[in-house]
Amino acid sequence: MNLPTEVRYRPYKDWTKEERETISNHVASSPWHTSYHLEPNTGLLNDPNGFSYFNGKFQLFYQNWPFGAAHGLKQWVHTESDDLVHFTETGVTLEPDNANDSHGAYSGSAYQVGDKLFLFYTGNVRDENWVRDPLQVGAWMDKDGNIEKFKEVLIQQPSDVTEHFRDPQIFDYKGQFYAIVGAQNLDKQGFIKLYKAVDNDVYNWELVGDLDFGGTGSEYMIECPNLVFVDGHPVLLYSPQGLDKSELNYDNIYPNTYKICQAFDTEKPALVEPSEIINLDYGFEAYATQGFNAPDGRVLSISWIGLPDVDYPTDRFDYQGAMSLVKELSIKNGKLYQYPVAAVADLRASQETFADKTETNNCYELELEIPANTKTELRLFADQDGKGLQLIIDTESGKVILDRSQAGEQYATEFGTRRECHLESGESATANIFVDNSVIEIFINKGEKVFTSRVFPLEGQNGIQLISGQASGSYFELKA
Ligand code: FRU
Repeated sequence: MNLPTEVRYRPYKDWTKEERETISNHVASSPWHTSYHLEPNTGLLNDPNGFSYFNGKFQLFYQNWPFGAAHGLKQWVHTESDDLVHFTETGVTLEPDNANDSHGAYSGSAYQVGDKLFLFYTGNVRDENWVRDPLQVGAWMDKDGNIEKFKEVLIQQPSDVTEHFRDPQIFDYKGQFYAIVGAQNLDKQGFIKLYKAVDNDVYNWELVGDLDFGGTGSEYMIECPNLVFVDGHPVLLYSPQGLDKSELNYDNIYPNTYKICQAFDTEKPALVEPSEIINLDYGFEAYATQGFNAPDGRVLSISWIGLPDVDYPTDRFDYQGAMSLVKELSIKNGKLYQYPVAAVADLRASQETFADKTETNNCYELELEIPANTKTELRLFADQDGKGLQLIIDTESGKVILDRSQAGEQYATEFGTRRECHLESGESATANIFVDNSVIEIFINKGEKVFTSRVFPLEGQNGIQLISGQASGSYFELKA
């Protein structure tokens, strides 16, 4: 939603109790709230931030402007979780309240250091002429949720970088802390800077160099670069804005992509033998995915189900955005798999045979098998007139197609209403489909291909229809 700059950057303290209540009431009146996906309390949710493990719990923050569905003065909102399925807001926020983050506490990461959680984020600072000074700054969060910001700036804007320099990710590689930061060079090409904490002191970051990951610079900015180590391979997750479509076919306004690499050379510095660039998700919206290597050995990731610069039907209810399910990453046959953590199965309340199910409450999981050499067409969010979200799983020609032109309130149609991806043909396929009122996450072959999307169903759009082909399996109603 377009709101004037004065509104979006109005100090938090100036918003009155009455104004806040009005916003909360608008949010509450939406018909599209999710049951088991995290949404903002009010306003806009964008990137996942600070996804980590600390104090016996998983920690997750989200980027938020709390006063409406727009990108305004951003804060981090803290949530925590025992099981990676239920996230609870704690009331802790990292607010843009000092000179080093005056125009927004932008995205970043977190890592336990000593007995505190170190938050590494971008302080978005602008001067009176609206000239931006992007600062990489830090804060501690203790076990009681007290936040203490560092006075010193940790990384200043380097001379070979424009104002687009943000989203530090701290990670531990062989006992040494490193950080990568997304950047734009003076020729307006996206790249990534690598830093290292001298003597592992998070107050003291030294530039290692520009991280060579085989990028071409066809993008104008790399947002939210994220390095995780999956089954021994460095995997770079990133959001290259403006990436040339000759390099990668994508339809969303900005893609969310990855590369699987063979090694991390900390000297050069380089990601050795990077794969080609691949779409992380084939749905209508998944962005700024953040992953981390959890202490229990799993590699966990979570995505913003939303995109920058796109308006959503919920905007008129003063909120926007949701978080995906938490996914576990693995590599099989050289391919990256993303599949919801096992605990998601705890949401299952009851099980029925898929074939018996025609009406739903739009809060369910389907677990389906599609035989080889069949073209199966399903309609979800279906209504009596045969309209609905079209999902084709074609194991004959090897394709999955998702078409939302006949489902829900239409938006962002300038980016097309259909998404598709390739599948190995001639083989059977499975689909795990999570529907949550206005969110759908589709996992083909247990996470080989993923489609994450919003659908904003209209009255009566809650059916399931098998239009053609064959699909067998189960319907699970899910608990809120
Ligand atoms: C990505 C992003 C980040 C930035 C944040 C601001 O969606 O633009 O690069 O830190 O959002 O909210």
